[in-house]
Amino acid sequence: MLPSTFLTGPLRIILVGILGIGGFLTLFVMYYQSAPSQICPPQPALPRHYSKPPENNSLSKKQPEPDKPIMLLWFWPENRRFDFRDCTTFFNIDGCQLTDDRSLYNKADGVLIFHKSIKHDLSNLPQSPRPPFQKWIWYHVESPTNTIRIPGLENLFNLTLSYREDADIPVRWRLTARKGQGEDFVLPKKDKLVCWIVSNNNPATGTAVRDNYYTELVKHIKVDVYGKAFARFLRYEDYFSTLSSCKFYLSFENSVHRDYITEKLNGPLAAGTVPVVLGPPRQNYEDFVPGDSFIHVNDFPNAKALAEFLLKLDKDDEAYLRYFQWRRNLFAQQHLIQLSQEFIQSICYACDHIGKHKEYRVVHNIYKWYFG
Ligand SMILES: *[C@@H]1O[C@H](CO)[C@@H](O)[C@H](O)[C@H]1NC(C)=O
Ligand SMILES: *[C@@H]1O[C@H](CO)[C@@H](O)[C@H](O)[C@H]1NC(C)=O
Repeated sequence: MLPSTFLTGPLRIILVGILGIGGFLTLFVMYYQSAPSQICPPQPALPRHYSKPPENNSLSKKQPEPDKPIMLLWFWPENRRFDFRDCTTFFNIDGCQLTDDRSLYNKADGVLIFHKSIKHDLSNLPQSPRPPFQKWIWYHVESPTNTIRIPGLENLFNLTLSYREDADIPVRWRLTARKGQGEDFVLPKKDKLVCWIVSNNNPATGTAVRDNYYTELVKHIKVDVYGKAFARFLRYEDYFSTLSSCKFYLSFENSVHRDYITEKLNGPLAAGTVPVVLGPPRQNYEDFVPGDSFIHVNDFPNAKALAEFLLKLDKDDEAYLRYFQWRRNLFAQQHLIQLSQEFIQSICYACDHIGKHKEYRVVHNIYKWYFG
């Protein structure tokens, strides 16, 4: 039994008052002692019984954000959940109210629908009528090789989110222009020649081309390999430093498609390593990064010739350093590498788009667009 149930009259009021003021002061002091850092989103660091807000404290209630469009994440992609505040933390994106609460469907301005989660009979898509202002976003970041054609998706979506540049919401890690002179680049210490981190070697996903190329290449040059495919796991915190310690990195995409140039390219650029790319033609890479920032396997008649070129560059510091000249004017940002973070960027970009665009649009034939 709580004391307050048998205390009556003025004594009760005084006691409750003291308790209330004391509680408030404790909260106040603890809040300031646990001031949130820049990196972590503010988390209530208080034990549960202290952090419980008073019952009628309008300030502590979750404020509705009436001016911000609502974006409903219909499925959590591969169940990799994250805190929606990460959009502000990592991308400075705050233009929509992100939610996974399906009861907000009727109010949602955008509904983000992850292609791989859609059931073949579409039975797990929203079933209630679509409000006229609402846009459905087709969310798919795999290449056509790794895309299952679910029937019935014609005239269903309003926007596309993809790695493709001609998507309504294109997603990739981009170089950014530096204003003014960047810092002088210091080449990281190198103790390995060629490195490759690869987790997926399932031929069903289109990896045969790169696997064959690797098999040929490794006959002529040493390659340090890491990742699930080689049962040599790398910790997240060692990813960028490992890349830095290699002169070259094999940025081999799992399948070859226009614009399908992933963070496998961004990683070495951010780490100060020369990417050796296998993917769409050189011209397509040059839509995103300078032509002298990477080596393309197609520049050589075969893997042996590529290996000879890399061995020659290894002995020619001046020629090797020319691959870093782009850094004077451009900057490569380290991308998010943890598995749990895999979908943060794309979901945040969708939020940003919904916050900025109101235009009517219909995607008639998604597969005609996607598979060409
Ligand atoms: C909560 O406070 C507001 C004003 O601050 C008041 O209008 C409302 O009636 C209060 N609700 C309860 C349940 O006491
Ligand atoms: C969204 O697309 C559907 C058909 O795909 C269309 O009926 C609807 O009017 C579109 N809405 C908006 C806001 O673009």
